[in-house]
Amino acid sequence: MQKFIIVGGGARGIFFSEILENELNCKVLAIMDKFVEGNPFIEARLKEAKIEGVEIYNDLEAMLEKYPSDSVDGAFIMTPEWTHLSVFKRLTKGNYNIFLEKPIATTKEAILEIGQIAKSYPKVIQVGFVMRYSPFYRKIKSWIAENDMGRIAHIQMSERLTVAHGTKFKRSWHRMKEFTGGFMNEKCSHDLDMMCWIKEKDAKPVGVMSMGTRAFAHESVGQTSCSTCPDKKCIYREDITQYAKYHAGKVLLDSTAGGVNECIYGNASDIHDTQSVMILFDDGTHGTFSVVAMSGKDGRDITIHFEYGMIYGDLEAGDLTKIDYRTNQTEKYHISGMNFHGGGDTIVVREFTECSLNGTKPVASVEDGLRASLLAFCVDESIELKSFVRLPE
Ligand SMILES: NC(=O)c1ccc[n+]([C@@H]2O[C@H](COP(=O)([O-])OP(=O)(O)OC[C@H]3O[C@@H](n4cnc5c(N)ncnc54)[C@H](O)[C@@H]3O)[C@@H](O)[C@H]2O)c1
Repeated sequence: MQKFIIVGGGARGIFFSEILENELNCKVLAIMDKFVEGNPFIEARLKEAKIEGVEIYNDLEAMLEKYPSDSVDGAFIMTPEWTHLSVFKRLTKGNYNIFLEKPIATTKEAILEIGQIAKSYPKVIQVGFVMRYSPFYRKIKSWIAENDMGRIAHIQMSERLTVAHGTKFKRSWHRMKEFTGGFMNEKCSHDLDMMCWIKEKDAKPVGVMSMGTRAFAHESVGQTSCSTCPDKKCIYREDITQYAKYHAGKVLLDSTAGGVNECIYGNASDIHDTQSVMILFDDGTHGTFSVVAMSGKDGRDITIHFEYGMIYGDLEAGDLTKIDYRTNQTEKYHISGMNFHGGGDTIVVREFTECSLNGTKPVASVEDGLRASLLAFCVDESIELKSFVRLPE
């Protein structure tokens, strides 16, 4: 049985523990989370998932001393991205196979340092671009590989979040650029990566133009806390039970999270909630992506225009359509039962277990993570400069 350790016992760390233990027949030996007060949350969630025998540490060195790399198959980095570089450096020093959540880091300096270390690292490093593992996007890739509709002339992608989902990014550590590298990096590095992955046979990205704003909840109504606010119908009102780290009437968050119960009108959040991006590729074509964080429905759509046909799809519905203009044929494909991220989570974890075992190269690498974050930073720079920003070499 393969054995793993996890750094970061929040929403993602616990979810991956469940996948490893309950779906992939692996053992999670230990979870390390810096935030001591959060231990009851981790214990309760593991108990709920019927996972036994996981040691909880609050000190990374103590966990690594007990479980050096030759005693485990790999280690997962599931902490917020502003901490990724330091944890990554420590784990690479210890020679572990590493699963690194996306986005790989929050600043240009940090992603380049991670990229530099990864270049000559002898063990596996897999990045958490889970959408690459979704059967939905895999089907799109296999249609593209058939190569029967000519070159890709244009890609249109969009994402929307429900108000409840989008509001989460206005609270907790997610609300600050300092901790995320911006909304585009934190939430949409997936989508920037996906567009480059779809286009990879034809061309590479060379630069971006973007517009973005804080379009929702931007005017303070003079309240600071939801619990004392008289506006009971406010759509951004907080439901503390929705916090990933809610346990027994309390939300157990570290000091970066800011005020639980905070009114999001005029709070300290400095990220965009509405953003549109154009990516220029080196074959002269371009793609567009837009995201709206406060909508009525979660979802992602994609339309790819080829020279002689098109593919369009709705991720949440699991529906894909391919139209070939020359044969006049329409092919439909439906995928049911996909969970979050188009069903990619179990597959991404399974691939890491396999790569760790066989030393094979994962589908999502540090290089991909680096490119997506670099694009995200250029996107935000383009908004500030109101101009085209060229991707550095
Ligand atoms: N691939 C995806 O689709 C996907 C989805 C959601 C989140 N993520 C990414 O996964 C990572 C974790 O997100 P989450 O939603 O689980 O966040 P979270 O806030 O729920 O959990 C993070 C945990 O890390 C702990 N922590 C903070 N600093 C630490 C440190 N230095 N050492 C050890 N523990 C530390 C916190 O106490 C918390 O328990 C983030 O990088 C996030 O962007 C990826």
